[in-house]
Amino acid sequence: MTLQDRQGRPFRVRELCRETDRETVAGFYDAFEPKRAAQGLPPEGAFRISRWLDNILRDGTHLLVEEADGAVVGHAFLVPTDRPEVAEYAIFLDHGIRGRGVGTQVNHVAADVARSIGVRSLWLSVEPHNRAAVRSYEKAGFRFLPGTIYSPEAEMQLALEEEPVPAPL
Ligand SMILES: CC(C)(COP(=O)(O)OP(=O)(O)OC[C@H]1O[C@@H](n2cnc3c(N)ncnc32)[C@H](O)[C@@H]1OP(=O)(O)O)[C@@H](O)C(=O)NCCC(=O)NCCS
Repeated sequence: MTLQDRQGRPFRVRELCRETDRETVAGFYDAFEPKRAAQGLPPEGAFRISRWLDNILRDGTHLLVEEADGAVVGHAFLVPTDRPEVAEYAIFLDHGIRGRGVGTQVNHVAADVARSIGVRSLWLSVEPHNRAAVRSYEKAGFRFLPGTIYSPEAEMQLALEEEPVPAPL
């Protein structure tokens, strides 16, 4: 799916292929700055990145964000939780593409994908001082779970049975 950032530059969101994209996504996280941007992720160093990818790529639905030239500039994923109808969501964008409305749009795409595979609710944890993340999640319809907002890692949820929140232009 091709979308446009706030300045009209195109970007593509597509499903990650575990067989062919593994090296590319490892390279994306290797170049990611700053490391440990959100809750200690992505981890530092090729070995830790590889171990983390082994873990998260084992399951779930993974989306890659690409610029027009095919460069991978983002990874967003929905992974199962111990509650069958709830998936955990996370997103990481290259610093060069942040602040252009891409994260908010990818959150909307991820919510649509989740709906299409029968997930009823997305859950995530976020450091409340991560304003870009919190704001991009709120704009996609996520809301804080009561009682968690003052925790070091607040929790947010998006109920997918509700009407989708319209994507901003
Ligand atoms: C979090 C992240 C995915 C957000 O994506 P993004 O494309 O940068 O965000 P958007 O451009 O869609 O901006 C979303 C909102 O946050 C606001 N925002 C962006 N950067 C901000 C900042 N540094 N401080 C405060 N608000 C900010 C934007 O203004 C926008 O709100 P608005 O439309 O009302 O103006 C991206 O910044 C990122 O990958 N960060 C590093 C990894 C990370 O923190 N992941 C989240 C894990 S919980």
